[in-house]
Amino acid sequence: MTKKIVVMGSGNGSNFEAIANYFKNKKNKDVDITCISDDENAKILKRAENLGIKNLYLPFEKNAEFFKENKYDLAVMAGYMRILDKETLKYCKFLNIHPSLLPAFPGKNAIKRAFESGVKVSGVTIHHVTEEVDKGRIIAQYPVFIDIMTTLEEFETETHSVEHKLYPFVIESVLNDVLFSFDMLLKPESGCGGNCSGGGCGGCHG
Ligand code: GRF
Repeated sequence: MTKKIVVMGSGNGSNFEAIANYFKNKKNKDVDITCISDDENAKILKRAENLGIKNLYLPFEKNAEFFKENKYDLAVMAGYMRILDKETLKYCKFLNIHPSLLPAFPGKNAIKRAFESGVKVSGVTIHHVTEEVDKGRIIAQYPVFIDIMTTLEEFETETHSVEHKLYPFVIESVLNDVLFSFDMLLKPESGCGGNCSGGGCGGCHG
């Protein structure tokens, strides 16, 4: 049965595009995606348009009404810059992606703050959404290492690369009610297959 998901973002939309491409390339295309932004000029909406995916500008204040009237199997936040209220959270299961190993570095500019703090391992977290910023129960995490020679730009690129591999896979796991495991990520059928440049998994990063 086709599953319906919403991807919510306020800006760039690179995670949205990774999610859209992941499901487009699946043999059984059984996921129907809608893209939503609270910014009518956001690049994420243009990306959706280019990919032929339903997209919608939805002012933040209309979220509760929208999710009450439209049923989705899952809503995933990817760079959505607002905090969802209790009323909206009642109507759907929401996930979020954050570019650090929570509970370290919650909030804005996590990549830069992690880098400048001197931590040697940071990464990506996917978690359930609650009313508190970056606080919901963690579903999956993936490390990105920072060594002496790593620049902020390299760290940032690698963090986003890991996000793009991890998020679609975790979304699929949640939709199928399967617990996320690293082993599954390394299987060519479902994960990077050892060809990504994202750090940490050991499958493709020496
Ligand atoms: C990502 O780093 C995500 O973890 C954070 O916001 C950024 C969104 O990037 N929550 P994009 O809009 O998907 O390119």
